[in-house]
Amino acid sequence: MLSYRHSFHAGNFADVLKHLVLIKILEHLNKKDKPFCCIDTHAGPGAYALNDDYALKNKEFENGIAALWQRTDLPEGIADYVNLIKQFNTTTSLNRYPGSPLITKHYLRKKDRLFLYELHSTEIQLLNEAVSHDRRIKVFHADGLKNVVGLLPSAEHRGLVLIDPSYEIKSDYEQVTETLIQMHKRFATGTYALWYPVVDRSRNQQLEKSIKTSGLKNVQLFELGIKTDTQEHGMTASGMIVVNPPWTLVSDMQQALPWLAKVLGIEGAGQYRIETLVKE
Ligand SMILES: C[S@@+](CC[C@H](N)C(=O)[O-])C[C@H]1O[C@@H](n2cnc3c(N)ncnc32)[C@H](O)[C@@H]1O
Repeated sequence: MLSYRHSFHAGNFADVLKHLVLIKILEHLNKKDKPFCCIDTHAGPGAYALNDDYALKNKEFENGIAALWQRTDLPEGIADYVNLIKQFNTTTSLNRYPGSPLITKHYLRKKDRLFLYELHSTEIQLLNEAVSHDRRIKVFHADGLKNVVGLLPSAEHRGLVLIDPSYEIKSDYEQVTETLIQMHKRFATGTYALWYPVVDRSRNQQLEKSIKTSGLKNVQLFELGIKTDTQEHGMTASGMIVVNPPWTLVSDMQQALPWLAKVLGIEGAGQYRIETLVKE
């Protein structure tokens, strides 16, 4: 049974990087008139309250979106992200944080579509409420990793698959690479964005190795760390692995990540990686 609730972590430093990359990909998809389709394999509840007991338990958003909220020196790309989050808040205070479904919905035009998968019985109800009455969006109470391949290629032949697992089950690390390979076989030109945490660096090394030897091409990695790696429990960094990234994404991240590492890094320990895992 799944027990993970993203409400405990909403708006933390990992969400900042994840949603910044998501926004930059969606902005790019929006540049062309042709419709696109987005699939979110691990959608979560859609939106989060930052003033409820979940978010306030560890206040992870404080070293995330809240640390950027009032800054007047935001680099351009990060300003776009913060301004978007401001649109989900009706006052000048930070009380609400959108999840990936509502962020993506913001970028959908009339002709674009969004497919959302969520397995958790409570989260699926919240998700259905968050995106109800929108004919562009379809929600599935089903396993995103098992079912996503069957949706590809989408009729639009243009789009993004966001894969944002909670990694509750250790086999998720192997399953994500296998799913990436299967999706890519059916839709080689799609963009795929995979989120990963750094909790035990050896798992990440294994994941990167499996992607490098998978046969996938044009794979870029973006990582933001706030502490040095440790043997102790807890996430020190997180990243996004993007297959077929928009050509502008590396320069967007070159602008954003050094700044974020400086601002969100704890006691000067912030760091980042921008690496090509596999060339085109
Ligand atoms: C990290 S959270 C998603 C956060 C969300 N993408 C966002 O940005 O707001 C991961 C979610 O995936 C769900 N989940 C876990 N395994 C799943 C699977 N195999 N298929 C679909 N959902 C799954 C969990 O219940 C959880 O809500």
